Amino acid sequence: MYFYQIPPVPKFFKGFKRPQIKPSAAEFENKKTGQKEKLIARIASKKDLKGISELNLKLFRDQIKFDPVMNLEWTRSRDGQKYLKHRITRSDGFVEVIENPKKNLVAYLVGAIVKRPPYRIKANYAELESIIVEPAYRGANLGTKLVSDFTSWCRQNKIDYVSLLVASQNDSAIKFYKKIGFKEYDLTMRLKLADKQ
Ligand SMILES: CC(C)(COP(=O)(O)OP(=O)(O)OC[C@H]1O[C@@H](n2cnc3c(N)ncnc32)[C@H](O)[C@@H]1OP(=O)(O)O)[C@@H](O)C(=O)NCCC(=O)NCCS
Repeated sequence: MYFYQIPPVPKFFKGFKRPQIKPSAAEFENKKTGQKEKLIARIASKKDLKGISELNLKLFRDQIKFDPVMNLEWTRSRDGQKYLKHRITRSDGFVEVIENPKKNLVAYLVGAIVKRPPYRIKANYAELESIIVEPAYRGANLGTKLVSDFTSWCRQNKIDYVSLLVASQNDSAIKFYKKIGFKEYDLTMRLKLADKQ
């Protein structure tokens, strides 16, 4: 998971193609209820902010087992809401959601085109910032669809590299990313000095 502070829109961020992915429907068997459901995948609008925030908080609650310094207040904070709103509305952002017949969001992906760090070669970079599929809906390729739509949009925008950050102990997500084709290239390390958590 990457979550950036949103800077004022620099020139670089203008003029990207907004995601043009048409809504698509798929039959799905809910693992909890055993019933068939029609799921709709579509690009998010501002109306989805509440649903995305709820899923994002679930993601944070889930990730805290890997990283005890995740801030569970962040999603609903002004910064968190501003970040999500920007990703939904700005041309450098990509947010796709999947909803069930009750109009509940069961999965989302947030990604963005990002500025090249000055120490990297001249190329175009994007980041897959967060993804979650509700447990009852996992293992049915919903995650794969979201990543594939995101990378298609990145290709349209001539992106060369898509990065992501994943907790080193999150084995299932690491397997998922590797299956799609992501490769490890960096390792983040932390030295704990204070005794807060
Ligand atoms: C990671 C996650 C998004 C995957 O979504 P999903 O819809 O279940 O994934 P898919 O069904 O598209 O899986 C595609 C492939 O990934 C691999 N994979 C997915 N989940 C896996 C798991 N729990 N264990 C091992 N491999 C897994 C499998 O190889 C799978 O292919 P297969 O079913 O043919 O074997 C989902 O498990 C999730 O929401 N996890 C919790 C949140 C999270 O950790 N997000 C990432 C934070 S950085």
